[in-house]
Amino acid sequence: MYNHIDLDAIHLEETPPEQEPDRQRYFIAKARKQVRALSESAGRPMTFHIETYGCQMNARDSEKLAGILTMMGYVPHDGEDADLAVYNTCTVRENANRKVYGHLGKLKRLKEKNPYMRIALCGCMTQEPHVADTLKKSYGFVDLVFGTHNIFRFAELVFRMLESDAMVTEIWEGTKQIVENLPTQRKYPFKSGVNIMFGCNNFCSYCIVPYVRGRERSREPQAILDEIRGLAEDGVVEVMLLGQNVNSYGKTLAQPVSFARLLSKVAEIPGIRRVRFMTSHPKDLSDELIETMASSKKICRHLHLPVQSGSTRILKEMNRGYTKESYLALAAKIKRAIPDIALTTDIIVGFPGETDEDFLHTLDVVEEVRYSSAFTFQYSKRSGTPAAVMEDQVPEDVVRERFSRLLNTVQDLAKKECARWEGTIGQALVEQVNVQDSSLLTGRLSNNLLVHFPGDPALIGKIVDVRLAACKGFYYMGEMI
Ligand code: SAH
Ligand code: SF4
Ligand code: F3S
Repeated sequence: MYNHIDLDAIHLEETPPEQEPDRQRYFIAKARKQVRALSESAGRPMTFHIETYGCQMNARDSEKLAGILTMMGYVPHDGEDADLAVYNTCTVRENANRKVYGHLGKLKRLKEKNPYMRIALCGCMTQEPHVADTLKKSYGFVDLVFGTHNIFRFAELVFRMLESDAMVTEIWEGTKQIVENLPTQRKYPFKSGVNIMFGCNNFCSYCIVPYVRGRERSREPQAILDEIRGLAEDGVVEVMLLGQNVNSYGKTLAQPVSFARLLSKVAEIPGIRRVRFMTSHPKDLSDELIETMASSKKICRHLHLPVQSGSTRILKEMNRGYTKESYLALAAKIKRAIPDIALTTDIIVGFPGETDEDFLHTLDVVEEVRYSSAFTFQYSKRSGTPAAVMEDQVPEDVVRERFSRLLNTVQDLAKKECARWEGTIGQALVEQVNVQDSSLLTGRLSNNLLVHFPGDPALIGKIVDVRLAACKGFYYMGEMI
């Protein structure tokens, strides 16, 4: 575990320190005592399970939560029937919220059977004002509710939860604080996400993220580089730099640094073999970044460049800050500079006012750019966002029909794009034993495509050369050479 802390050196009889992260370290030690007592009383270790929804940002947050719980003495358990079930939620689309409420019903029944069970809810959904009220009114059996801004206070909140029989709720409206150096428990020992910034200032008119994640804040480059050096010493070979709009990284720092500059510094760290990043907003993607990517072998040949719509008129309504033409010109420029790059994207269908003609522009962009894959979404109305009150919301059947047309086009072209590399040799970072066939390993190529091939599980975490023998649509079957 990165960032190990000597809990025995913390004096529990003293008052809690005011400074972070010392304060949270103190509460990890305090909670460890509570967890020991619970384990003794139950005659077994206390277990935890974290269910994560949403984006890479939430996945990384969950690793931080897992790190803290592990230090407290909780042991991981693969299933919701753990002694502490944590739900790290996403609210980017309405159905994500529905799923969480559905699961809570199930958790209630599990809790009735296990007197030690506690339920915690966090993540973006809890930042919506009406959610905390709904939880209080109809889901009183939930033990802890906290938001995205105070996630670093998790240790203290768990301590309070274990002391109390009532629901503990702490949700902040925002924060300027960035608290570093708390423990994390990575899902994969050999790769890790790294937050480089938090929040978002773009206010795309359909999107709830700026309201639930707050204003954009960049971490100091030194703190990021120190974290990655620590990760590399801990066996990490691939990092993914995370932010809602990494291309605007560093602009608000006292000493501004460009994202491209940060990226090349990260790529220089000994032990780091691969660097990825998510997400790039097309409006802020610089020539400096393209040059940096083109000239570095360590920066992966993958760029996620969400287009959202191909219609300039809709893009304006979405407040995206680029046009169909400028996006296409940017994609062409990237492909010219980095011919082996794989471009992927996000697309929303059925934004208010979208006509068939607008939609045809989206298909047009898909055909011209030839994405290796695309996340396609039906527009979901998020209350509080400007688009939610726009006139001309598109009828559901029209959205569904456009969505399936888009999906067919995307899949068709992605298959062709993937087939371009058939027969070549690629470098794959071996991630795991294949889930369906245990004689195979699954590796990820620099361009983010997966390849399955026979091999020894001892290779997990290593980068190996693989012949991409057969393209199967979105992945390859291969053999090691
Ligand atoms: N910061 C990233 C996106 C984060 S949200 C960016 O700007 O590209 C991930 C994706 O969810 C978005 O790219 C968008 O395609 C989708 N999304 C966001 N809000 C949505 C909504 N209201 N309805 C449907 N899809 C939405
Ligand atoms: Fe949402 Fe736009 Fe920010 Fe992405 S850039 S998180 S889509 S507001
Ligand atoms: Fe969802 Fe929050 Fe990420 S709303 S997409 S988990 S920033």
